[in-house]
Amino acid sequence: MQNNISLHVVANYNELSEKAAELFANAVKLNPTGVYGFATGGTPEGMYEKLTKMSAAKELDMTQITAFNLDEYVPISPSSPQSYAYFMAKNLFDATGVPSQNRNIPKGDAPCPHEESAAYEKKIAACGGIRLQILGIGTNGHIGFNEPSDTFQGQTSYVELAEETILANSRYFDNQDDVPRHAISMGMQTIMMAETLLLLASGETKAEAIRGALVGPITPKVPASVLQLHRNVIVIADKAAAKFL
Ligand code: PGA
Repeated sequence: MQNNISLHVVANYNELSEKAAELFANAVKLNPTGVYGFATGGTPEGMYEKLTKMSAAKELDMTQITAFNLDEYVPISPSSPQSYAYFMAKNLFDATGVPSQNRNIPKGDAPCPHEESAAYEKKIAACGGIRLQILGIGTNGHIGFNEPSDTFQGQTSYVELAEETILANSRYFDNQDDVPRHAISMGMQTIMMAETLLLLASGETKAEAIRGALVGPITPKVPASVLQLHRNVIVIADKAAAKFL
């Protein structure tokens, strides 16, 4: 593995969440007014729960950070319980006091998703870029909603979800037909511009994706493989997710 990637293999999901929360909290302590990138999904939920507890215990102050999320479904209203805006409010932002004007998530109900994508990209740049970006990984090697493809998606864009992703995410909807088919996602270039990337992976279902991401050939068929070219990637994986490394 390349030495720009620092891999931490932990025993289980709880340890992963703890280590990720500790690392993130330390970054915020060093730079309480910094710009941080967030991910949704099952993987960071434990980390967010721990950050919420730290904040309640006054060990962490997130009230001055600026947040940018990786992605949002289209079409979806931010008030819909399935939206990522709702997920972030419920799992982290409300309880830790991240001010609503500092919460940036692409608008899933914007009249023009292409314009919304371009505006989102500009806003990240105007805020000086992302200091630390949290990432999950899909079983197909996607990052955000950058799905396997013939080319890498550059900047924040309006994208189509892969069938595998629709299936994986249908657990959050009443049925598979309700999962939106599109999203606005930061592109791989946007993600690669963050100063530090924190990639989290838990469980055997992620083992092949993690192998492809960290030691496989760099290819848009495994979007996460481009992370091998980033100068500072921290990976926290549990034993099950790291089993092919
Ligand atoms: P998960 O999703 O954390 O729910 O497994 C990760 C992803 O699809 O990027």
